[in-house]
Amino acid sequence: TPAVQLEQVQFDFIKDSPTNELEKTSGCAEDDDNRSATPMYIYSQAQLYRNIQSYKDAIQSVGMSGRMHIFYAVKANPNLHLMNLVRKQNCGAVTVSGYELKAALHTGFVPEMILLNGNGKQMWEIHLALKNGCMLNVDSFFDAENIISVARQLQKTARVLIRVNPGLEQSSTPVHSYLSTALKNSKFGIPLHQFDQVLELLKAENFIQVVGLHCHVGSTIRDASIYSSVTRILLDIRQKLITQGYTHLKYLDVGGGLGIDYFHGTNQGQSPLSSTSDLMESIAYCLPPDVEVIIEPGRSLVANTGILVTKVLGNKKSSDGGKNFVVVDAAMNDLIRPSFYQAYHHVLPVRKYITCKGTYEIVGPICESGDFLAVDRCLSQEPVKDDLMAIMDVGAYGMAMASNYNMRARATEVLVDGNKFKVIRRRENFESLIKTMTD
Ligand code: LLP
Repeated sequence: TPAVQLEQVQFDFIKDSPTNELEKTSGCAEDDDNRSATPMYIYSQAQLYRNIQSYKDAIQSVGMSGRMHIFYAVKANPNLHLMNLVRKQNCGAVTVSGYELKAALHTGFVPEMILLNGNGKQMWEIHLALKNGCMLNVDSFFDAENIISVARQLQKTARVLIRVNPGLEQSSTPVHSYLSTALKNSKFGIPLHQFDQVLELLKAENFIQVVGLHCHVGSTIRDASIYSSVTRILLDIRQKLITQGYTHLKYLDVGGGLGIDYFHGTNQGQSPLSSTSDLMESIAYCLPPDVEVIIEPGRSLVANTGILVTKVLGNKKSSDGGKNFVVVDAAMNDLIRPSFYQAYHHVLPVRKYITCKGTYEIVGPICESGDFLAVDRCLSQEPVKDDLMAIMDVGAYGMAMASNYNMRARATEVLVDGNKFKVIRRRENFESLIKTMTD
């Protein structure tokens, strides 16, 4: 069971709880219409700590302690409680919106260890970052102009990293096209041929200090060798800048993107997955001693800390009899990755299954044929009404990408720590959904 797989003790409470026990956990007010406990995101604190420790160990083993900084990519999961746990492990944060930045500040991340990234930063977001002493990425010529303008207005030096787009071929980052960010046709970063132009602009400005270079090639990367190429590209540019008199180039930020084992060993034709040690080795081997590295993991820190527990509402067959649908109470609004990226998430029963039964489509109640959580999935027993199922590895880009489509309330989030658990986000309700509308 997922209980056993993740944290035996932690998940016992779901396994053994009758639904009303779970309902007490759901974080709903007593008078809510929808007091169901599911769908419910459950995170394991121990797994989160293990993931962070694996990065720290890998950093230490390549002799980069103190010179390699983990900046958590908040977009993966912006739950304040989880952010706080990450912060307490001495990580920084990389943010992509004013509110992510506010959340990072609110949680107590050290401002100097917060980076505001983004290809469409607004003036108020730049203002917020500068006022608080956070670093910013320069993503384009207009972004440089905007940062300069706010820095002048505040009379404050902006510490910036220049985000480089090295114009890679799709074949060099074999990930879903939506998850590639450093290709010739990507919207992110400054293409190499425009680099000098942006540099000229920044160089002439007193309120700008270029403190580093940044490149994020994409997400769900399985082969860490791409990070060696990125490091070398950034080091070459750095060398060029040094010869032009730049003296503050402390950081190389190689982005995030390391994949995780979504397939749970079922492989599905995937290439081998690099470890955090492979990642660190491919970055560290060519580094001069005066360089500090920032890495921006999101998924590899939080994805496997989370499961989405959903309840079976019923079973039906397609009219041609070819498909067995299991209709569950979670839907694409709770977890969009399967519909949006055809992403695979392992599904496990919360209660024990006995014999092999067949192939199922696990679908939600949303009015879209694309509302599925798993397709063609072989399950060992037909899940029936009120069975609980766990959709695995949803700690990253699960709740973070949830929506209110079909006017569905977003799920509860629960954190499990040993044999204790805590609601870290209450389920939304009708009142919270209509709060911002006028009738
Ligand atoms: N740094 C930058 C500049 C990024 O754009 C991203 C992710 C990260 C770091 C963190 O990447 P990670 O380590 O989590 O792969 N919604 C998609 C993922 C989009 C990632 C966007 N950028 C998904 O569900 O797979």
